[in-house]
Amino acid sequence: MAEPLIIVNLKAYAEGMGEGAGIIAAAAEEIGEESGVAIGVAPAYTDLHPIAMHYAVPVYAQHIDGVAPGAYTGHVTAEQVRAAGAFGTLINHSERRLTLAAIEASCAAARKSDLQTVICTNNAATTAAAAALSPDYVAIEPPELIGSGISVSKADPGIIERSVLAVKNVNPGVRVLTGAGISTGECVRIALELGTDGVLLASGVVKAKDPAAVLRDLVSLI
Ligand code: G3P
Repeated sequence: MAEPLIIVNLKAYAEGMGEGAGIIAAAAEEIGEESGVAIGVAPAYTDLHPIAMHYAVPVYAQHIDGVAPGAYTGHVTAEQVRAAGAFGTLINHSERRLTLAAIEASCAAARKSDLQTVICTNNAATTAAAAALSPDYVAIEPPELIGSGISVSKADPGIIERSVLAVKNVNPGVRVLTGAGISTGECVRIALELGTDGVLLASGVVKAKDPAAVLRDLVSLI
């Protein structure tokens, strides 16, 4: 297994914007250094540049459009987020779904700009399709558990196992993350034991009173 990766998606949560984004990025930097676990953050576009400039953490865009620079009002290109300091990008998050063709285009654009690619999926079949596009990671997240506080590791370990197997069969070089309801070190430990390379989570950290304490717990059993 590659070095485990934890990505905290700040979504459009009020707690995860502006100063809140800085607090979470600072905690990710500190606990990442302490533990040796890579902890990335995916802030809103409006916070991407300041977070990338001020904190030594891998920063991910939450989405990019698969278009080249040009006349695309309201689009966000791989070049733009790369220039703003992004290390990678989520693609096809459940809250920002794309067609298969658009996923492929976003992935190709990201690759061209040297962005690490994390394609989010909702079941084993879409995980297999995503793996065929050769992203760096697929992140399997059952939509019904997202934001629920109920951990995919405990509520639906089968979907993780099936997704890990699907990736192994289709494109074994692709790494696997899982997410939805992850909030404790035990959730992370189970996810890793099921064959993933880490987790993608949001509310458990972003909405916590003490995000640093949650991050410390998340890495505690790795
Ligand atoms: O991108 C992470 C995600 O959708 C899971 O959200 O709040 O269940 O950790 P949450």
